[in-house]
Amino acid sequence: MAKMTAQDYMDRESKYGAHNYHPLPVVLEKGEGVYVWDTDGKKYYDFLSSYSAVNQGHCHPKIINTLKEQAEKLTLTSRAFYNNVLGEFEEFVTKYFGYEKVLPMNTGAEADETALKLCRKWAYEKKGIPENEAKIIVCADNFHGRTISIISMSTDPDARNGFGPYTPGFVTIPYNDTEALAKELEDPNVAGFLVEPIQGEAGVNVPEDGFLKKAYDLCKANNVLFMADEVQTGIARTGKMLACDHENVRPDVLILGKAISGGVYPVSAVLADDDIMLVIKPGEHGSTFGGNPVGARVAMTALEVVKEEKLEDNAERLGKIFREEFESIQSDMIAKVRGKGLLNAVIINNKNGKTAWDVCVAMKEHGVLAKPTHGNIIRFAPPLVINEEQLRDAMDNIKAAFKEFE
Ligand SMILES: Cc1ncc(COP(=O)(O)O)c(C=O)c1O
Repeated sequence: MAKMTAQDYMDRESKYGAHNYHPLPVVLEKGEGVYVWDTDGKKYYDFLSSYSAVNQGHCHPKIINTLKEQAEKLTLTSRAFYNNVLGEFEEFVTKYFGYEKVLPMNTGAEADETALKLCRKWAYEKKGIPENEAKIIVCADNFHGRTISIISMSTDPDARNGFGPYTPGFVTIPYNDTEALAKELEDPNVAGFLVEPIQGEAGVNVPEDGFLKKAYDLCKANNVLFMADEVQTGIARTGKMLACDHENVRPDVLILGKAISGGVYPVSAVLADDDIMLVIKPGEHGSTFGGNPVGARVAMTALEVVKEEKLEDNAERLGKIFREEFESIQSDMIAKVRGKGLLNAVIINNKNGKTAWDVCVAMKEHGVLAKPTHGNIIRFAPPLVINEEQLRDAMDNIKAAFKEFE
């Protein structure tokens, strides 16, 4: 049989798969560290890291080894029985992040849903909000996943429209607006504030310095849970283990996913202290796969790698170089460069009908993969194991791509 071409692979996905994504036209078959290869053997720098899930680099040997070892022993017990790995993971991850309890799930959306349920239950049992009256404040332009309740919090028409009726109980304020937050917090039925420390999907919206701390203090003053969705910003991505660490804020409820397992296996987690977490009782929440031995082991190793390889420091240092390098590019297509650590975005001016999509296609030709988010914004988020030489080499390729539009 003739070798399949890239077009064949893309056509097959298009024919048999739902059309809920619009991928860049590249078909990948191998990954190692910061690199991926397509089916024709062309090598690329991955500057998306599967939306910040592959912080430890593709197929990190230590994580893959853990996966293999545990997969040969025991993969799934469900939570109907104990297993010999879950408790070790729970102890490890709670000590790692400094919380009393963890609730393991699989995807970011599930972890966010878990936080919403936890917050509502806490509101009724601990805060004394009348049953079914609890409100949760969220921010415009948020992204927390794709379930019905989560898209009910969304202000993005693509995410939301046509999927109603929506889950009630959410109040939306502008992002980075502590005045609006203070006003909404006057309502005694507010139970929680759910926020991304940097809005990733919205185009790497970085709030003003001090926003998180001020928002946290306002929540505390009003007996409201401060819930940080660090699914994309967490695990060293922004130059600290958590983006909240930049302002020494310890969320009441911490939501993690993606890179907690190095992009090797779906693992997410919600962390909180006993007075919050123990409002959920047996039978009230769960997941067949959540906390399974493979995910638990993989996540422990993936988190070890973050510390062993000092990925926080690397993200902080190389993030600065990335932004400096980008700002030095002379191109009238570049409107703005922003970000923290190795979570960055470049806002593109459309020129002669050329858009961020065309820039991404040109970068692909030059061996760098990145993807537009929200029209004219390109996110740049390489694996955090990237070194300076690789970063500078990738930047040369990115510059060459921009030159094509001059
Ligand atoms: C901040 C944030 N929360 C939640 C999610 C949803 O995660 P998942 O796709 O694993 O459900 C994402 C995914 O991009 C995210 O960026």
